[in-house]
This record gives sequence, C-alpha cells and structure tokens, in this order.
Amino acid sequence: MEKALIMPHIQERLSRRSSLKIALSLGLLIVCGYGGLLTAFQASTAKYAFAKVPIDADQIIQKCANLDVIPGPPSDFYARKESDRYVPGTKPTLIKNATIWTGNVDGLEVIAGDLLLDKGMISAVGEVPAHVLNGFHHLSIIDANGSWVSPGIVDLHSHLGDQSSPKLSGAADTNSRKGLVQPWLRSLDSLNTHDDAYQLSIAGGVTTVVVLPGSANAIGGQAFVIKLRPTKERSPSSMLLDPPFTFNGSGIEEVQPPRWRQLKQACGENPSRVYSGTRMDTIWAYRQGYEEARKLKVKQDAYCAKAVAGQWKDLGDFPQDLQWEALVDVLRGKVKIQNHCYEAVDLDGISLDTVAAFHHAHETYLVPDLLKKAYVLGHTPAVALFATKARYKRESYRGSEFAPRILADNGIRVVMKSDHPVIDSRYLMHEAQQAHYFGLASHLALSSVTSTPAQIMGQEHRIGFIRKGFDADIVLWDSHPLAIGATPKQVFIDGVAQLEGPFVVPKPEVLQHAPKTPDFDEETKAALKYDGLPPLEPKESISDVVVFQNFDSLFLNTRRGVEEIFSAEDYVGPPQIAVVQNGVLSYIGTFEGRPINLNMSTRIVDLHGGSIAPGLLSYGSRLGLVHIAGEATTQDGEVFDGLMHSEIPSLLGGDAAVIRALDGLQFTTRDALLAYRSGVTGAITAPYSPGVLAGLSTAFDTGAAHKLIEGAVLQDEVALHVSFSLSSSVSVSTQIAALRTLLFGGAKGDLGVQIAKVLEGKMHLVIGVHNADIMASLLQLKTEVERRSESAIRMTFAGASEAHLLAKEIGAAGVGVIIAPARSFPSFWDMRRISPGPPLTQHSAISTLLAHNVTVGVGVESDGAWAVRHTRTEVSWAALEAGISKAEAIALTSSNLEKLLGLTSGTVSSNLVATTGGTILDFESKVVAILSSKRGVVDIF
Ligand SMILES: *[C@@H]1O[C@H](CO)[C@@H](O)[C@H](O)[C@H]1NC(C)=O
Ligand SMILES: *[C@@H]1O[C@H](CO)[C@@H](O)[C@H](O)[C@H]1NC(C)=O
Ligand SMILES: *[C@@H]1O[C@H](CO)[C@@H](O)[C@H](O)[C@H]1NC(C)=O
Ligand SMILES: *[C@@H]1O[C@H](CO)[C@@H](O)[C@H](O)[C@H]1NC(C)=O
Ligand SMILES: *[C@@H]1O[C@H](CO)[C@@H](O)[C@H](O)[C@H]1NC(C)=O
Repeated sequence: MEKALIMPHIQERLSRRSSLKIALSLGLLIVCGYGGLLTAFQASTAKYAFAKVPIDADQIIQKCANLDVIPGPPSDFYARKESDRYVPGTKPTLIKNATIWTGNVDGLEVIAGDLLLDKGMISAVGEVPAHVLNGFHHLSIIDANGSWVSPGIVDLHSHLGDQSSPKLSGAADTNSRKGLVQPWLRSLDSLNTHDDAYQLSIAGGVTTVVVLPGSANAIGGQAFVIKLRPTKERSPSSMLLDPPFTFNGSGIEEVQPPRWRQLKQACGENPSRVYSGTRMDTIWAYRQGYEEARKLKVKQDAYCAKAVAGQWKDLGDFPQDLQWEALVDVLRGKVKIQNHCYEAVDLDGISLDTVAAFHHAHETYLVPDLLKKAYVLGHTPAVALFATKARYKRESYRGSEFAPRILADNGIRVVMKSDHPVIDSRYLMHEAQQAHYFGLASHLALSSVTSTPAQIMGQEHRIGFIRKGFDADIVLWDSHPLAIGATPKQVFIDGVAQLEGPFVVPKPEVLQHAPKTPDFDEETKAALKYDGLPPLEPKESISDVVVFQNFDSLFLNTRRGVEEIFSAEDYVGPPQIAVVQNGVLSYIGTFEGRPINLNMSTRIVDLHGGSIAPGLLSYGSRLGLVHIAGEATTQDGEVFDGLMHSEIPSLLGGDAAVIRALDGLQFTTRDALLAYRSGVTGAITAPYSPGVLAGLSTAFDTGAAHKLIEGAVLQDEVALHVSFSLSSSVSVSTQIAALRTLLFGGAKGDLGVQIAKVLEGKMHLVIGVHNADIMASLLQLKTEVERRSESAIRMTFAGASEAHLLAKEIGAAGVGVIIAPARSFPSFWDMRRISPGPPLTQHSAISTLLAHNVTVGVGVESDGAWAVRHTRTEVSWAALEAGISKAEAIALTSSNLEKLLGLTSGTVSSNLVATTGGTILDFESKVVAILSSKRGVVDIF
C-alpha cells in the first residue's frame, strides 16, 4: 500500500486539493493532516529521499477525520428539491380538509387544513397557497372531509422480511446460531422481499420499520431501516431508508456524513438458553466482543494520530477488521443499539451509553432510576414495549399494562413496538391504543408509534412527523387513530398511494375523537407497590343485595340469544335500577316498583352511564392450564398423541385414553384473573396437544379461587377436541384417516364412549383447523359418517382462518366456526388465504361467514391466554367491520360460543358484567363489578 512518492502523484494530489479543503473544514485534526502533507511535499522539493507518503494519503486522512463524526443528515438536507426515494412519475397529491396530527410540540399540535405531497416529500402543511396549486397540471385531490391524518407508523422492532410469513423453513432467517457475539451479521442479508406482511402492515398504516436480527445472540447483528412499499428494483437494498452506505454498481461505499447504524443486542433468557449458558456467560461474551473492538479502536486512533502528524514511515494499512468494525462504530457513538432486555438484573448488566432503547423491557417501569442514573443525562435509553403481551416467560411475568404510563411519568421516552410477527405490525396502532387505554396520554400514545421511534432510530429529520420537507409518509384514517378499530383509508409512502381502491367502512361520529379512557390510578399504584404482581382478586364479594343505578343499557342472554333489553337512548321515563340478590339479577325497573326494601346497608353501585351485559366466554387458549407458557414447571403440559408418540402408556389405557382438561385445571392464574376483570367470566379449555386428539374440554369460572368452590367449574366435560394441520409431523391424509378410523368404530374403551356421544350428536366435535382444503375433507367425512350413523354430528371448526373460502358449504353443512384469533394473520401456509378485511377487502372472515348464516364465535390462539382480556375489544372491532349490532357482537363471544361448543345453555347468562363509562364493548368503559349467580356473589373491583 505504502509507496515511495514520485512527482506525478504529487501533481495528482495537488489537483485534488478541493477534497483537502473539505477535510480542512472538518477541524483541527485535518489542519494538522494537511500540514503534514505539505511538510512531505516541501521535503520532496528539497531532496529526493523524502519520507514515504502513501499514494492515498489524503483519503486516509479523510477517513481518519470521518471516524468520530457524529452521524446525521447532510447539512443541506432540507434544501433537497426531491426525496432520494421519489418515484419519478408519482402524481402530486393534495389532501384537502384534513385534521392533521403532526407530531410537533411533543405530539400536541393538531392542524385543520390541507396537505400537499410532491416529489416524495411533504411540500406544504395547513394552507397551500393558490399559486403553488396552480403550478400543477396533474394534481390528484383527496377531500378528507375532516378525517384524521397522521405520519406513517414507524416500527422500531420488527422482523418483517427476515422471519417472513407464511413461515417456511427456507425463510426462518432471523437468528444465526453460530455464536453469541456476531456484530458482523446484517439483517438486510436475510430480507425476503416476498413476505405477505408487507402489504398487510402497510394496510395498517405502517410505513417504516427497523428490521432487527433475532434475540438468540448477545449481539445478533446489524439492523436496517426499510420502507415497506414495493420498489421498481424489487431488491432489499432499494427498500433502505438513509442507508449508511451506497452501492455504486461495483462496490459498497460509506456515505458522508455518516448515517446512523443500528445494532441488535439481547440479554437474559434468549441468548443464555440458545447457547446453554447463563446470564453470566452472555455478559462475558459482551465483554470479550467489546474488548476486541476497543483494541481495534485504539489501533485505529494511534494510526490516525500518526497519519495526521505525517509520520507515514512504516505506518502500514489502516487497522480494519470486518468482524469488529460495527462494534468500533458503537464505541465511536455512531450506532443506535436496540437492546432486547427484560429484567432489572439484565438492565443493570448492560451499561453502554449508546443503548438507544431497551426492547420488551418488562421490568423497566419498576426501575426507572436505574435507567436514569446508569446513563448519561440526555442518553437515557427509550423503552420499547408491548402494550399488554406479558407473562409468557419469567422475564415478562411482572409485565404491566401500566408500564407505558409509568415510564412516561418518569420522563422516559416510550415506544410501542410489534416484534413482528410476534404481534402483527398491521396492528401496531392498536398497541398505542391499548397503552392509551391504560393511562398513556393520547399525544404520547400517538408519538409512541410515529415520532418517538423515528427519533430513537435517528431518522427524525425525515420521518415520524408531518412537516414541510419531510418524506411524504402519510396515513389517512377512518376515525381517530386511537379509537378502537381505526383503519387507514389511504396510506402514502414517499408520496405514492399504497392502497388501490381501498374499502372503507363508515365509522360512528363518537370514534372521531380520542377515547376518554378510564381512571386506572389505583391499579397503577398497586403495580408498583407489589413489584409488578398486584393482587388481582376482587376488592370484595357481596352476597347481600346490590343495587345498580344509572346505566344506559342492559343486555341479557335470553332464549333468543343476546338482546339489548334496555337502552336509555329510546327510553323516556323514570330512571331504571337493577337489583341483585346473591349474585342473581332479580329486578329491573323503577326505584318505586322495587320488590324489596332497601336500607342504609344496601350497596348502591352508580354506573355513571355504563351498562350491564352478559359475561363473556373465551375459547382457544390454554387459559387455566398454564401460569407461564415458557416455564414447563408452571403448567399442565402436553398430552400424548397416538400418531406422534409410538405408544401411549398402558397405564392410561393405551389408545383408549381420553384426557380431561378438568383434571389439570389451575385457578387464579394471572391471565385468568385479568380476563375476569375484563368481563371474560368463563373459559372453555381443552387439553393441550401438539397432535390430532386432545381430549375433553372443561368450562370454568375465571374468577374462582379454586376448583372446589361452588360454581368454579361451569361444566366438567364440554366437547371432544381434535386438530389437523399441514405443520404436523405426520401427513394430513394420515391425520384424517385417524379420525375416520375413530368415527367408523375404531375407538375403544373410554375413547369409544366419547366417540359414541359425538356420533349421536350429544357431544360437539371441535376441530382445530385453518386450511380450507382440510375443512373440505372434513365436511366430506362428516357426510360419510352421518350417512352411516343416521344422526347429525355437531361439528365446529376452530381457528378457521380460511373458512370464508367455504362459507357456503360450511353453512350448508350446519357446521359452526370459531374464528381464532379474531384478526387473522397468515402465520403458516395453512392460513395464508386470509380475508384481511378493510381496507384490503370489503369483507372480513366473520362478516362473510355471518352472511352465509354460519354460527360464528370469536376465540383466541393456543398461546393467547394473555389476550383473553381483550375479548371485548376484539368483538367490538369485528362488529364495526361486519356491521352488526352490539348485542350480536356480544353473542359472538357468549351465546354463540355456548352453541358452538355444546355448553349447557345458561352458562353465560349466569354471569353479568357491570361497566362504567360505556358498554362492555367500548374503549371508554371499565368493568367495575361481576354478578356471579353460580357463586352467589357480586364481585366488586
Ligand atoms: C369525502 O366525502 C366525499 C363525498 O361524500 C366522498 O366521495 C369522499 O370519498 C370522502 N373522502 C374521504 C377521504 O373519505
Ligand atoms: C371539512 O369537512 C367537514 C366534514 O365533512 C365539514 O363539516 C367542513 O365544512 C369541511 N371544511 C372545509 C373547510 O371544507
Ligand atoms: C465503488 O466502490 C468500490 C468499493 O468502495 C470502489 O472500489 C470502486 O472504485 C467504486 N466505483 C466507482 C465507480 O466509484
Ligand atoms: C337491610 O336490607 C337487607 C336486604 O333487604 C337485609 O338483609 C338486612 O337485614 C337489612 N338490614 C337492616 C339493618 O335492616
Ligand atoms: C340466511 O338466513 C336468512 C333468514 O333465514 C335467509 O333469508 C337467507 O337466505 C340465508 N342466507 C343464506 C346464504 O343461506
């Protein structure tokens, strides 16, 4: 590399003085470097034996000067006339009469006015001068009619493209298992451009995401920021936003000034588990890695010190190492570290000032001072959270729905993130909605998925805000973005409209405002007081008379299903009260007409315009069998499967064995108690099987203290459960052959008894299945069996992501469907043909099935015990899309589930839920009491 200097090279170098001038402007370091060169030059004129100055000396000096430049956009960034991502030919767009949430002023600014998008940028906000508009020949105009507009959603934590959907073995590219510390890996190198989730996430308003490597390693690799829209080049690198390098056709070159880089780190269980080590091993791996980087940095700095001093003699090459260069950049403060880290013990172990955000971080709300003290002022890491997904492992057991608010109260920046596909990023705004519901102020909730993540990733100069000169990434909403079910009407990325002929469902006026969320002050304090494990049991249980007053609606489960039997809306007359004795609703009417005397000690509950409605049910998860899904010692476990295990123990009766969930029930799990507090008063849970035959489900009261309490078990045995999947280790044809064998007389002993009940139509056969082709085979099998047994089998499909494809046939066969989860996602090939609903399709799976007179229920996924508490918002959302009434929505998760599972009628009507601030379906309401007739009490929260 180092060559003797000869005259032509000097000439060449002098002719390149302009580059030296740029270097000069960078500061003292360069001035020295320049001086050094001149010295060499002057020496050369004196005698021929001057010092050896390398041919690329000025480049080296430039490189040295760049080493410690803080990343950011070029100083003339806002002078840009068009975005570097502008797609030539994109029509300018004027969005007229919008309600624009800009992200400015800490998220408090809202502008009523117009928005002009041109050349991939926002070119005017508020008022667009007429002369500007007159300058356009082909202006596309959207009249927003006052609709809400927000910046595109920014997801700080995604695996979109790396862990692509549907999940195929060739596309599980998130985690390398080749070492604990691998800063040289790059998520970009795994990015699958055919992930189904790009389009789905855009439909939810997501425009930019940070694609992170997984969390199997302490240092998993470099993350990259991409925009989700399709590009003309169709390549991963063409999706990059502000790449820290450019591809010039033959090689990669660094961009100057440098741009922020991103690095994924993880501590705690994941890396320790993958490498069969401990937390101690993981932290040691960090120390080793950073020590390598430190040594390299010292060498580089020494090299540069010499270079700028003109001491070229024996200097050699600039010390570089592709494996450690990213960590050296960390030490130079040029990298935003996105650090997966949950518990206080782990947060304490990581002390790099370049941690941009701790992700997941379920314990940060318990130790805000640790974050503030350990990190230099102004560098306190942000915290990137799930709203309510928790308790899936020890690290998340103390997770709290109040964490976003508590952290914000402590001045720590809060980001809501998807960890897509862990949470479908299409619904990232819903995470912000939930954070708001549990107390995060609305301006911070909106910022948490737009401007705050943009700041944390170092892209706040162009995304995350609606400002002149910023990228034209814009979402036009059908309601206030924090309202339940808020859906984009249109999404722009780089000014390009992403939705072709979007389907828009008209939303009620009340959803055009941010919900007035309930008061959770007491619960928030308790979360802190009890170190993340506040007691969840009711404050008191009253068996005496309780009177409810001041409710606006009352729904009951009658013989005809759920009906709204009282609504203040169309009622004129004296106020109504509801009298409850021993947990049983005994009277609804005027105060004067009450059948019993009330006295001083009678409890009166004022619902402040709230509502009373049937308790909801949940089906699909392992609720009641599991405390912590990731901890084998906290749960019932898996059953043996006749197809997957070579032999079922003879102690069980071999093939004749039937497992009953009843025997494994665990009461007072935190998920069950949270469900109870949210109005889900009963759950139906089947034994957990990875194979075909699970066993008999049981129905239990989610609020009961233990099994032996009167009313704790609602029904010992409910239905027989089987499931079929393309993901099984045995063929689908084998799985169906097994069911055929059982239904055609092959079942013995206990199993024979249960199958006989199924054949006689006395017990439901509930089939977990997503794929329409498998459903078709099952419908045929049903016909076959019924022809022989001459009685109708009661069959229900659960999961059923593709059921809408066979809606007519399923309806005709009298088969019911439990959609679980309520909002489908193509996780596996089995379920890739989802009906995504508005804005992508007019109909959701639920509305299509209802239109074919199929009895529809809504459930959760097998690992969805944490989500059972959201049942009320799920059906509320489904109802908005399907255009059904509140009573019909409640039925989806109460009376319909009773029918679909074969619960003795009345299981639901035995419990009622009282809410303040709205009906059980509203985001403004809160459950304050549960009327449990089976247990003879009113539980007050
Ligand atoms: C605004 O209202 C007009 C007239 O009703 C309608 O055609 C248009 O689609 C509306 N715009 C949006 C963005 O909803
Ligand atoms: C904006 O739209 C709203 C709702 O349609 C309408 O009431 C209002 O008059 C419109 N304002 C302007 C300036 O057009
Ligand atoms: C492109 O970048 C490579 C690597 O930095 C470099 O060697 C090459 O000269 C560059 N090509 C052009 C045309 O600038
Ligand atoms: C108050 O009324 C309740 C219910 O009617 C009754 O059980 C209770 O004994 C009464 N208490 C007094 C002090 O009268
Ligand atoms: C559904 O039921 C209604 C009322 O019984 C009937 O009018 C309609 O034709 C049915 N639709 C289908 C697709 O079977």
